[in-house]
Amino acid sequence: MSTRALRIGLLTGGGDCPGLNAVIRAVTRTAVGRYGATIVGIEDGFEGLYEGRMRELGYGDVAGLIAEGGTVLGTTNKGDPWHFPVRSADGSVAIADVSQRTLERVREAALDGLVVVGGDGSMHIAQRFAALGIRVVGVPKTIDNDLGATDTTFGFDTAVSIVSEAIDRLQTTASSHHRVMVIEVMGRYAGWIALAGGMAGGADTILIPEIPFRWDAVFRHVRQRAQRGRRFSIVCVAEGARLPDGGQVLRSLDQKRTDARQFGGVGAVVARTIEEGTGLETRVTVLGHLQRGGSPTAYDRILATRYGVAAAECACRGDSGVMVALRGTDIVTVPISEAISVLRTVPPDHPLVAAARAVGTRFGDEVPAQGAPELQPG
Ligand code: F6P
Repeated sequence: MSTRALRIGLLTGGGDCPGLNAVIRAVTRTAVGRYGATIVGIEDGFEGLYEGRMRELGYGDVAGLIAEGGTVLGTTNKGDPWHFPVRSADGSVAIADVSQRTLERVREAALDGLVVVGGDGSMHIAQRFAALGIRVVGVPKTIDNDLGATDTTFGFDTAVSIVSEAIDRLQTTASSHHRVMVIEVMGRYAGWIALAGGMAGGADTILIPEIPFRWDAVFRHVRQRAQRGRRFSIVCVAEGARLPDGGQVLRSLDQKRTDARQFGGVGAVVARTIEEGTGLETRVTVLGHLQRGGSPTAYDRILATRYGVAAAECACRGDSGVMVALRGTDIVTVPISEAISVLRTVPPDHPLVAAARAVGTRFGDEVPAQGAPELQPG
């Protein structure tokens, strides 16, 4: 039996998110400190794996990382080895399958396993590598919180805190100018960030992809508030919210990405339509990448650390095809196949939605009760 130290590759894939560095620190410290393994950090996700860009990580390399945003390894969302953008000498880009070459890189680097920290797209790739015999352990990451099989992904709590703080700031200027403020937040197909961030910030209306809204209901609520003397409103809209005609607003399509759709712009549509429909002055703020930047919250640092420790333990034990996950307060492992089979969207009857409705938050789907007065006491 070989006595060679285990070599575990570690990469971060997809969009960055607060807490990635805390995972890198935890995986490295646990694997090196507890198992005497070598951690090989792979630069820029699967793209770096294909190109063979790697470096060993020791304790010194991860010192102080727990509080740092971003990822010291770098990342990309254009590195799917089965859908890889290859640039030719003439500058043109063609999509190619480079999975075999990427597999060879794993063997050349003598990696006994891979820890893949990523979202839905990265977990799909991880699953394909596992099916080809590479030992892969996944760690769920995304501010969108939309991965099935885990209660929470790290990065989400930080994004929600940033949305909440932004709404606090918008409230004061909205109230001073008697304006409607629309804030567009991230989340792709899921409304978790808008729901939780909007609730924490006390948004008056929250629009999410999972709850179809109608313009008349949105206008009515804004007008009612104005008539009650609350001459401002905050509308928190998820970037993937569906307009009443069912359409989502896209910024662009990028075929180099696993999912070509890039969301953006629904906030401007909502703001313009509210202003036209109510006559109230309206402004829009697109929070954008501020939601992904900067230092993780304490909750995300702890969750990322727990995930990192569990992933290192799995990788050093030789587990494969599993993802670490949070179930209640426990860290467990689930098959990656289970994690990618379900996109975790907001159930319209979720307790958070119910609680928000109970305190008067609207979702743009409210039908006025028959014969009810237009104005409610308030
Ligand atoms: O998946 C995370 C996320 O931040 C989404 O909420 C958002 O739609 C997307 O990534 C933005 O991607 P990019 O950073 O490539 O613009």
